[in-house]
Amino acid sequence: MKKSDIENELTYIDKVKTINDGKNLKYYILTMGCQLNENDSEKICGMAEKMGYTETDDIMDADLVIYNTCCVRENAEEKLFGKLGEVKKQKEAKGTIIAIGGCMMQEKHIVDKIKKSYKYDVIFGTHTLYKFPKDLYDAIIDNRKITDILDIDGEIIEGLPIKRDDNIRASVTIMNGCNNFCTYCIVPYVRGRERSRSPEDILQEISNLAKEGYKEITLLGQNVNSYMRVEREKGEVTSEINSFAKLLRAVNEIDGIEKIRFISPHPKDFTDDVIEAIRDCKNVSKFIHLPLQSGSTNVLKVMNRVYTKEQYLNLVDKMKKMIPNVKFSTDIIVGFPGETEEDFEDTLDVVRKVKFEQIFMFIYSRRKGTPADEMENQIPEDIKHKRFDRLKELYERLVEENNKEYIGKNFELLVEGYSKTNNKFLTGRTDTNKVVIFEAAEDAIGKVVNVKIISEHKWYLKGEILELN
Ligand code: 5AD
Ligand code: SF4
Repeated sequence: MKKSDIENELTYIDKVKTINDGKNLKYYILTMGCQLNENDSEKICGMAEKMGYTETDDIMDADLVIYNTCCVRENAEEKLFGKLGEVKKQKEAKGTIIAIGGCMMQEKHIVDKIKKSYKYDVIFGTHTLYKFPKDLYDAIIDNRKITDILDIDGEIIEGLPIKRDDNIRASVTIMNGCNNFCTYCIVPYVRGRERSRSPEDILQEISNLAKEGYKEITLLGQNVNSYMRVEREKGEVTSEINSFAKLLRAVNEIDGIEKIRFISPHPKDFTDDVIEAIRDCKNVSKFIHLPLQSGSTNVLKVMNRVYTKEQYLNLVDKMKKMIPNVKFSTDIIVGFPGETEEDFEDTLDVVRKVKFEQIFMFIYSRRKGTPADEMENQIPEDIKHKRFDRLKELYERLVEENNKEYIGKNFELLVEGYSKTNNKFLTGRTDTNKVVIFEAAEDAIGKVVNVKIISEHKWYLKGEILELN
């Protein structure tokens, strides 16, 4: 898309602002999905604020209500329809504008249902985020409902305003879409094919963030470690930074950024150059998210994950050898169609062997339009739940076991602020995402401190501050 076309779309920000001027309007946003969805919300908020709205946490106070939807797992539909039902009265009473965006809007059957049975003003999708101001303008001026969905893959639009949620950590989208088509997953259908942002745009954004004082960057995408692969294969890459490994090395050079994380990678794309980059780059976190999904080779095959149990375990071993002190988190789905007791035992086996620091556990949920939804050997709900509970039990034991290894050791932490549960303590996280609380003066916030762990409390650790770095 031409830069001038995008600029033209964004002129609608000023047009809406002119209509809104002097009215003291407020917006409320509910973000329902993953970190990419959150990053999109930051852009939606950026646009809303430039259009003259200020954010409110109280939906009743809002003149504009925005739902940024997700459709990856269960109950997402019911949740949205529940919300739309609730907000209806408010709309009738005071003309609140309702805008619905995000992944779920890329599903035709959902949009049809909203159009038929619910009140709304604007529906926009993942490929039309940048058109939100124009859509809103049209909805206000013409007093009509706007549905603005594109099925073709939109490129990642540069230059949208952004209102960041945090002033120390920031997320930066590096690629969008997915070409993997894991058979349970809706993402490739709603986010489209893989496409990468240019390294120049990414590095510029991160340098600007560093100048603004941000210390930690999370590189985002559905398959981050295949960054630029499609473009490379098509011979479209002009920059020297033509792979994820090279991007990590380049981000590592940016002054002021002290921690670099990335989410989510795919095990199949952990090539040696990526592992070496993680090892060599001082600022790249050694806590790696390595989605397992299932520990059974049979299930992995039907999931189309393109690795076996052994290949996954070998990769973990290799990374442990190459990267000192590397630790892992993972995603696991239980109850995928056809999963036998033996298959599930394989998953538990991998969990025991890898000793993940963190596990995001999901019960398999049928997604319309995905191959797994068509499979006949669906697992009954009670079995899925029982397996989920067994995995959870194992995980909780593992957390306690892993926690013990922290006691008596020193960790560098970025101080995030006061603990939400006890404001006597400040809080930060270890590289492995363990919450640590400790007493320190308020001016430590935003700084890196050295903390010795003195006790473990399952979901958090308690520490003693040694020094400000
Ligand atoms: N059911 C359950 N979990 C799912 N995930 C993706 N699709 C589904 C589904 N249909 C999980 C995967 C993925 C994470 C983001 O969500 O574990 O890694
Ligand atoms: Fe979904 Fe698989 Fe792509 Fe991840 S890699 S977004 S699970 S299709």
